[in-house]
Amino acid sequence: MRRGSLVQLILLGVVATAITGAVAVLVPWLPESAGKEADRIEFVYWFTTVIAVAVFAVVAAVLTYSVWKFRVRPDDDSDGPPVHGHTNLEIVWTAIPAILVTAISVVSAIVLAQNGRAGDHPLRIKVVAQQFAWQFTYPDGKTYGHLTLEKDRPTQLDITAKDVLHSFWVPQLSQKQDAVVGQHNKLVVTPTKTGTFPVVCTELCGLGHSIMRSRVEVLTKAGYEAWAKGGGVTGGRRPPGLTAFNQFGCNSCHTFTAASATGTIGPSLDKLKEAAAKAGKPLDAFIRESIIDPNAYIAPGFSPGVMPATFKSQIPAKDLDALVKFLATNTK
Ligand code: CUA
Repeated sequence: MRRGSLVQLILLGVVATAITGAVAVLVPWLPESAGKEADRIEFVYWFTTVIAVAVFAVVAAVLTYSVWKFRVRPDDDSDGPPVHGHTNLEIVWTAIPAILVTAISVVSAIVLAQNGRAGDHPLRIKVVAQQFAWQFTYPDGKTYGHLTLEKDRPTQLDITAKDVLHSFWVPQLSQKQDAVVGQHNKLVVTPTKTGTFPVVCTELCGLGHSIMRSRVEVLTKAGYEAWAKGGGVTGGRRPPGLTAFNQFGCNSCHTFTAASATGTIGPSLDKLKEAAAKAGKPLDAFIRESIIDPNAYIAPGFSPGVMPATFKSQIPAKDLDALVKFLATNTK
């Protein structure tokens, strides 16, 4: 190959690298990482991207050069020379990709193994998904509609579902994990940044799938300890209705001042007297009906079928009574 041709080929490769490199670097493809596991996954992405850009540059340069230099001239009607391949070239273009693909597999396997390790003393949180809410239960038995984590502390999530398939995902922590009935799937997260991030369901699970969201708050060590101490009313003193309110996930969808709940998926429960009047029912009966038969009355601006109709069989009679009493006495 002449020197001039080689320079042209290299120039084409540089242009192809610049264009694809710019697309890779300038477009924010991934959310900003906020976890150790996400950092490792991001590394795999970049490792793979650099290899892909290099391979693309070589292929694009050779292809463009060939089309440009070896195209048929308008007056050339002759046949091309008979070429029977090039053994050395074939060995090279088989061996190099094989090495690169193996490297990607090895790096991915290492990251996968590292990301599954929670260390000796992880914070263990049970995650229960149901149409259409998340529940997070801490080692002390307290249950919340949103997740609170401690920065730099490995946390092992034990993920399951009550009704259909769901999937747990926090974009900034990367990794998705399926929530399956009767199965306890593990997911390790080690947040490295404080802040609030969304929890998203990424498995089509019914009418309310798109609103099956919660949030994760990552606090500093001191912040987390303060939250853990005062975060929930302690077992003995809390009204049983409040326990039921949090246990059955009402807090993740509804706003209710008495329970410090701020959900916006369902209607606010702070003005139930008004709603009962609109529905033409006594307050207690209205609340009870709305829990066990949620589609009987739909608040203006909300859709039927979003609130689970399964509470009738899920909430024991005693808890239901406590819940109705708690709501009726604390609403306006
Ligand atoms: Cu739960 Cu989609």
